Amino acid sequence: MFRKKESIQIKTVDQLAIMRQAGLVVATALKTVSEAVRPGITTAELDEIAHQIIRDAGATPSFLGYHGYPAAICASINEEVVHGIPGPRRLLDGDIISIDCGAIVDGWHGDAAVSVFVGTPSAEVAELSRVTEASMWAGLAQARAGNHLSDIGHAVENVIRAQGDYGLVEEYVGHGIGTAMHMPPSVPNYGQPGQGPPLKVGMALAIEPMATLGSPEVEVLSDGWTVVTSDRLWASHWEHTVAITEEGPWVLTALDEVRL
Ligand code: CO
Repeated sequence: MFRKKESIQIKTVDQLAIMRQAGLVVATALKTVSEAVRPGITTAELDEIAHQIIRDAGATPSFLGYHGYPAAICASINEEVVHGIPGPRRLLDGDIISIDCGAIVDGWHGDAAVSVFVGTPSAEVAELSRVTEASMWAGLAQARAGNHLSDIGHAVENVIRAQGDYGLVEEYVGHGIGTAMHMPPSVPNYGQPGQGPPLKVGMALAIEPMATLGSPEVEVLSDGWTVVTSDRLWASHWEHTVAITEEGPWVLTALDEVRL
């Protein structure tokens, strides 16, 4: 899983500052879109809001055109786990939607996702999302020099396993990020601690756990993008981009200044 030859990009302090700008654009887009989520709105309308914010910031939406992807966000509803394509579908009270967004500033990328409830969620969906977000924060806290890559996935998995009987999706993983959205290394959301490359100051990673109310098995719909649970039970997905700094993890896609 951890290939030695693929080296991990190291950023300077100045380069991380630009990644923080990209991260702030993503954070602003996600906040605005999240606040627009309500019963009756379409996912295409949410995409337009995100696209506008990215454009107004003078940034570029990284998803649009990526391997032919047609939108600025991914909007994944209920049994959709990730990579849902925005369109005419209207949100309903009780839905959960993962909104995933990426932006580029001066060639540097930010990538983040939130799960948002439409109106009032069921108790079990609310708890699923709370646990999935908590697992992401546990992973982010491990993004420190001196740790090994797998310490992140180990921390994510521990939270998911300790807090319920959830499916932990293994087929999709987090990733290195910098001058491209997806760079080495892959960042699995599971594993033993102390494995893989040592984490170093200047690395940046996107940590993005996905958990489900049932089986961890997923499949891709015939649109070629939308990833759904095989049992069609609902999922939650959260993501932040984090930099490893001398002072510890710096969450580049948080709206506020978050250093763990
Ligand atoms: Co990502």
